[in-house]
Amino acid sequence: MSDLNTLAPDNRDLSMFPGEYGLPFLGKTVEFVKDTLAMCNKHYEKYGPVSRLDMVKNQRVLMCLGPEFNEATLFDPKGNFSVAGGYASSLGGLYPDGMLTRDDAKHKRTRRASQPAFKNDALKTYVDMLIPIQERRIQDLPINEEFIFYDNIQKTLMDVAARVFIGLDELSPEAKKLGHLFSEINEGLITPLPYDLPFLQFRKSLKAREELRQFFIENIPKRRGSNGLDMFTRYCNAKDEDGEYLDDIDIDGHIAFLLFAAFDTTTSALTNILYYLGKNPEWQDKVRNEIFSVTNEMPTFEDLAEMNLTEYVFQETLRFYPSVMVLNRRTTRDVNVAGYDIPANTVVMISPPFTHRMEQWWDDPYTFDPMRFSPERAEHKRHGFSYVPFGGGAHKCIGMHFAMMNAKLYLFRLLKNYKINLRSDYDPAFQHVHLPRPVDGLPITLTRI
Ligand code: HEM
Repeated sequence: MSDLNTLAPDNRDLSMFPGEYGLPFLGKTVEFVKDTLAMCNKHYEKYGPVSRLDMVKNQRVLMCLGPEFNEATLFDPKGNFSVAGGYASSLGGLYPDGMLTRDDAKHKRTRRASQPAFKNDALKTYVDMLIPIQERRIQDLPINEEFIFYDNIQKTLMDVAARVFIGLDELSPEAKKLGHLFSEINEGLITPLPYDLPFLQFRKSLKAREELRQFFIENIPKRRGSNGLDMFTRYCNAKDEDGEYLDDIDIDGHIAFLLFAAFDTTTSALTNILYYLGKNPEWQDKVRNEIFSVTNEMPTFEDLAEMNLTEYVFQETLRFYPSVMVLNRRTTRDVNVAGYDIPANTVVMISPPFTHRMEQWWDDPYTFDPMRFSPERAEHKRHGFSYVPFGGGAHKCIGMHFAMMNAKLYLFRLLKNYKINLRSDYDPAFQHVHLPRPVDGLPITLTRI
């Protein structure tokens, strides 16, 4: 198995599969960016569950659609698929030491060291950190006046990142600087020209990544031995199974990647949740009634666990628009999945939202129906890998409970006081890449309850 330094070149001979490579250099990137789901549907109808295509820089990919491919790539007990190989070209340049660019023992070591920061005891301490941030941001929201929700929730979650992930005062100049660096790095992930050349965005992104690295490396000795409860300090104090602190490069790599993995995904999820609640006022009332029935005070960690209807809305939103619209892997050897022989070193792409809308697995999949997640119906359990907004197997999202808790807390405070209103004829186009959300950022108007 491989990590980024030991990867063999990709297999480019996919001539035994049907499909279409698309344009020179760009491949099918334009179609993919414009409407990822439409592209998956088109390939599925024309070529069946397995088809070939090219992405930007002629990255050759085998698209594999359906739960059996999700299971084979994500669960993968025999190590037939490498996650580092899958993300080398997209994440490898800017996040080479994150959890999704590491396989096997290296991944296991950091995943194990990370676990305490995501256990219930730790999550409880984050609730206390989240409340004042969300409280301040929600108090500042414009009332009776339309504003772009996406821009607003980005700022809120950047505050969360500064305080809960890095342990900074979210209002400090240092937090602002890091926020800026972080945005600059992520621009490099979506640039069409990811080359380290003068005047190109990618070079600026690499420079910003280096500055962020310096910040973490300088601060590791200051945080070690301190009793901060933020994730960065927890990582600095974490030890591996031999009782050794993690290396500086591991801490930098993982905290930087954690910020990336947490921030955009939750921004997308909350924006889309508000869209669906605005579109379905009866569900807004149900969630609000649940909130009133749970507590009149600020909710505790235990109160949040009781917000079941809110959870179904979260799950149903991620069924339509999982924040990560495609997941990548690369075969480590020749593999047969569902009768298809896939050669070694082939980059494979699976699509959670495609599977989330398959009529074979879901009742009326294009209808917004959160109760499909209730224990009585449990449609998501019909196949272990038909619902994969957080992936599965060894790399399953480590932050999913944090994400849910953060979203519930935000919705608790927002819906308790305000009604979300959309324009009466609102029917936005959705962008799918880099993150799914209404293209216009979701203009909403809040009115007091
Ligand atoms: C709605 C919010 C989120 C969604 C939909 C989401 C989705 C995902 C998915 C699909 C994966 C697996 C990718 C793959 O296997 O290729 C993943 C992995 C990961 N996520 Fe999340 N995520 C969310 C929030 C978060 C948060 C809040 C954090 C941190 C606090 C986080 C940290 C991570 C990390 C570290 C990994 C890599 C885990 C590993 O490789 O072992 N995510 N996430």
